[in-house]
Amino acid sequence: MKTSSLVCLLAFAITEVSAFPSIALDAAKIEALTKQSTSITKKAIGFDPVAQYVSTTGSHQFVPPNFAAGDQRGPCPGLNAAANHGYIPHNGVGTMGQIIDGVNTAFGMALDLGAFLAIYGAVFDGNLLGYSIGGPTTASQLPLSNTLGLTGAPQGLSGSHNKYESDVSPTRGDLYLYGNDYTVQVAQFKQYYEALPDGLSASAQYDALAPFHNARFQDSKNRNPNFFYSPFSGILVSPAGYNFPVRMMSNKSAEFPEGSLDKETFKSFFAITGNYPNFKYHMGYERIPDNWYKRAIGDEYTIPGFLADVLNHVEKYPELASIGGNVGKVNTFAPVDITALTKGVFSSANLLKGNNLECFVLQSAEAALPDIAIGTLGNLLGTVTSATKPFSDAVASRLAGLGCPKLASLDKNQFNKYPGYANCKDGCSHY
Ligand code: HEM
Ligand SMILES: *[C@@H]1O[C@H](CO)[C@@H](O)[C@H](O)[C@H]1NC(C)=O
Repeated sequence: MKTSSLVCLLAFAITEVSAFPSIALDAAKIEALTKQSTSITKKAIGFDPVAQYVSTTGSHQFVPPNFAAGDQRGPCPGLNAAANHGYIPHNGVGTMGQIIDGVNTAFGMALDLGAFLAIYGAVFDGNLLGYSIGGPTTASQLPLSNTLGLTGAPQGLSGSHNKYESDVSPTRGDLYLYGNDYTVQVAQFKQYYEALPDGLSASAQYDALAPFHNARFQDSKNRNPNFFYSPFSGILVSPAGYNFPVRMMSNKSAEFPEGSLDKETFKSFFAITGNYPNFKYHMGYERIPDNWYKRAIGDEYTIPGFLADVLNHVEKYPELASIGGNVGKVNTFAPVDITALTKGVFSSANLLKGNNLECFVLQSAEAALPDIAIGTLGNLLGTVTSATKPFSDAVASRLAGLGCPKLASLDKNQFNKYPGYANCKDGCSHY
C-alpha cells in the first residue's frame, strides 16, 4: 500500500509536470535515464573525456545567486552548485523532474537515487511537485500555486530540519547550536579538509573519512543538548554529506576513473576560498571547477551504491546507526527503543543483520510520507503515459525487491522524549 502510494505519487507528479511543457522531462531522456540506473552489473569503469566533461561556459557559466531578487540556496552544496551553473533553475526553485535531470547531467547521480531524494524534497519541503533548495519562496514559482503543500506552507530544504535536514552534517552546523542549519561552519570545513587524504581514489578517500564522520557524531552528542538523529534524515540523509563529495564532486580521470577529490575542487564545491588554514566562506558561491569531469556514463551513483557507502561507515562505527538523541543535556544520548518504534518488526539486535538496516530506513522513510488520497488522484493516474512508467518502476523495484519484513507504521510517540524532535516535529528552520 505504502509502496504503491509512493509510486502513484511519483506517477502523479510526473504527469502533472508533463502538463508544463517547459519543465517536462522528455520521454527519450527518461528512458535513457532508466536504462542507466537499472544496469546493475558492474563493468570496468572507463574514462571518456568527451562524454564526462561538464560545461561551465555559455548557459552553464557560473552566475552567483542574487539573494535580493529572491534566489534560493541552502544546505546542499550539490544543488547550490547546480543552480549557479544553470543545471537546475538559477532561482533555486525547481520541479522534481528538473532536479532529477539536472543532478544526473551535472554529477552523474542515477535516476533511482535522484528520484528518491527529489520525491522526499517535494513531499516534505515543497508542494509535491517541486521545491526550493533554500528557504520559503513566493508561491507563483511553484506549479499549482502551492495548493498541494502537504505538511504546511513549503519551507524549502533549509526549513526541513528533522524531516530532511539533519544534525551531524559535515560542514553545516547543528541547527540548535548555530541557529541555522544551512551555512558552512568554517571550523567544520577545516576538519573535513584535514581528514580528506590527497591523491587516493574516491573509495580509499571515503574509507579514510570514517573517523571524521564519527567525530562529527560525537561532537553533536557532546555539545548539542537537543541532538536528534532520525531514521530518515539522520541515518539515511546525513551520511550523504560524507560520501557525495568523493563520489560525485571528485574529478574523474584516466588515472582515477571513479574519481579522486582534490583539495581545490573540494573548496570550490563548498564555496570556500583562501589558503589553509585561513579559509573564507562565501555563502551561495558553490562552483563547479572549469575542466571538471563527472562520473562515467553507465557508472552513475545509485541507491545500492549509496547504501553500500552508508553501511561501510556503519560497520566501522556502529554508533552511526543509532536512532535517538540527547534528552535535553549534552552526553545523554538515549537510543530509541527500536522494537517499540517498529511495533516489533525490527529490534536493535537484528537491525544490522542482512538487509534489515536498509529495509528499515527505506520503509520508515515511506512510512513517514503523508497518506496520499489515492482516490482523489485516481483519475489523473489514468493519464500516466508509457513514457513515465519506467521512471516510477525504477523507484518501486528498489523499494519492493529487498524481501523486507513488513513495517506497517512507526510509533512516533517514541520520539517525544527527545526535545530536538519534540520542539521541531514538522521540520523547522530555527528553534
Ligand atoms: C535530488 C537531489 C538532492 C537533494 C534533494 C539533496 C538534498 C540535500 C539535503 C536536504 C541536505 C542536508 C542534509 C543534512 O542536513 O545533513 C544535503 C546535503 C548535502 N548534499 Fe545534497 N541533495 C541532492 C543532491 C546532491 C548532489 C548531486 C550532491 C553532490 C554532487 C550533493 C551533495 C551534498 C553534500 C556534500 C551535503 C552535505 C553538506 C554539508 O553539511 O556539508 N547533494 N543535500
Ligand atoms: C580533471 O582531470 C582531468 C583529466 O586528468 C584534467 O585534465 C583536469 O584538469 C582535471 N580538472 C580539475 C578541475 O582538476
